[in-house]
Amino acid sequence: MPVKVLMVCLGNICRSPLAEGILQSKLPSDKFTVDSAGTGGWHVGELPDKRSIATARDRGLDITHQRARQFKVSDFTEFDHIFVMDTSNLKDVLKLAPNDKAKTKVSLMMDALHPGESINVPDPYYGGPEGFDNVYDMLNEACQIVANKLINDTAR
Ligand code: 4NP
Repeated sequence: MPVKVLMVCLGNICRSPLAEGILQSKLPSDKFTVDSAGTGGWHVGELPDKRSIATARDRGLDITHQRARQFKVSDFTEFDHIFVMDTSNLKDVLKLAPNDKAKTKVSLMMDALHPGESINVPDPYYGGPEGFDNVYDMLNEACQIVANKLINDTAR
C-alpha cells in the first residue's frame, strides 16, 4: 500500500498543484502517491493556473495532467498526510475533520522547515509571476524536508 499525501490550498490552481508536482518528483512513485485539492470549489475541473504551469515548466516539471478538485471529508480517510498552504486553509480543513485522528494528519506546509512559526505559503493569484517563483522556492525547500522524512519513515 503506497503512502498517500494530499496538498491543500484555497483554489487548487496555484499553490497546491505546484506542491503536488514538486513532492511527487522527490518520491518514488511505487511507494508514494501525491494529490492536491482546494478548500474552495470555484475552479473544479480546471487545469492549474497558467503561471503555475509556466513556473513548473521552467524548473523541469510538467503539471498539466492535473485538474482542480475540492477537498472532501473522505480525504481524511483516503490520505495519510495532509499538508495545507496557509493558516486559513488549516482552519477550514480542521473544521471538516470528523475526529481527532483525522486532525493529526493535517499540518501546515511550512512547519516542515520552520516548526511552530505559522508561516504561510502566500497566495500568488492576484500578483505577478515573481510570486509564483517565490512560492516554488518555498515549496521546493519544504517538500525536500517532507520527502526525506517520508522516505526515512517508510524505511523503518
Ligand atoms: P490557490 O490560489 O489557492 O493557490 O490555488 C487561488 C486561486 C484562486 C482563488 C483563490 C486562490 N480564487 O479565489 O479564485
